Amino acid sequence: MKKILVLFAHPAFHKSRINKRLMESIQAIEGITFNNLYEKYPDFFIDVKREQKLLLQHDIIVWHHPFYWYSCPALLKEWIDLVLEHNFAYGIKGKALKGKIAISVISTGGRKEVYSEKGDNHFTINQFLAPFYQTATLCRMKYLPPFVVHGSHKITNIEIEKYASDYKKLLTGLRDETIIINQTGNNNYTNDLIE
Ligand SMILES: Cc1cc2nc3c(=O)[nH]c(=O)nc-3n(C[C@H](O)[C@H](O)[C@H](O)COP(=O)(O)O)c2cc1C
Repeated sequence: MKKILVLFAHPAFHKSRINKRLMESIQAIEGITFNNLYEKYPDFFIDVKREQKLLLQHDIIVWHHPFYWYSCPALLKEWIDLVLEHNFAYGIKGKALKGKIAISVISTGGRKEVYSEKGDNHFTINQFLAPFYQTATLCRMKYLPPFVVHGSHKITNIEIEKYASDYKKLLTGLRDETIIINQTGNNNYTNDLIE
């Protein structure tokens, strides 16, 4: 059984509809460690050694957050800046993360259609996530296509329940290795690979 570390970053959790529900669906599953960064580090003083130890103890790393300004909330960026140290995560001696899997789980206000060359945001989600792809790659991890919930402003509770159920299937499938994802590419979402 693979061990999964969910790095959850939501600065306004009290207002959350989508990620609150996604979080609730996976939080108590065996094999998953839920690391709520804004709860743990409200002052932004990240315990780098604790976070690196957690990384070493897990096989699959999930960056779970609402999409903020086409990227992640500030504390997750701080986490990346501090925790993925030279000679730990990258560099000649930096092999701590080698062979692990990384995946982004995000929600966006924008609908799927606006994330395209001809849409209002001009780029696809996968293009916006290029820094995460390359960060994982530099750290010798395999970056899977993202799991995305679009259109947060108009989404119904029934739709949220379906996403929550799919998120649970995704993490348990990755944990048990019943979901093996080899496909990568600019338009791929992991959502499409869940039955
Ligand atoms: C500061 C801020 C920046 C945001 N930036 C984006 C963005 O770049 N693209 C987008 O589609 N939605 C953006 N949104 C909308 C959020 O992604 C959306 O509210 C969130 O995914 C809803 O999830 P929740 O119900 O868990 O809060 C932004 C929201 C805030 C507050």
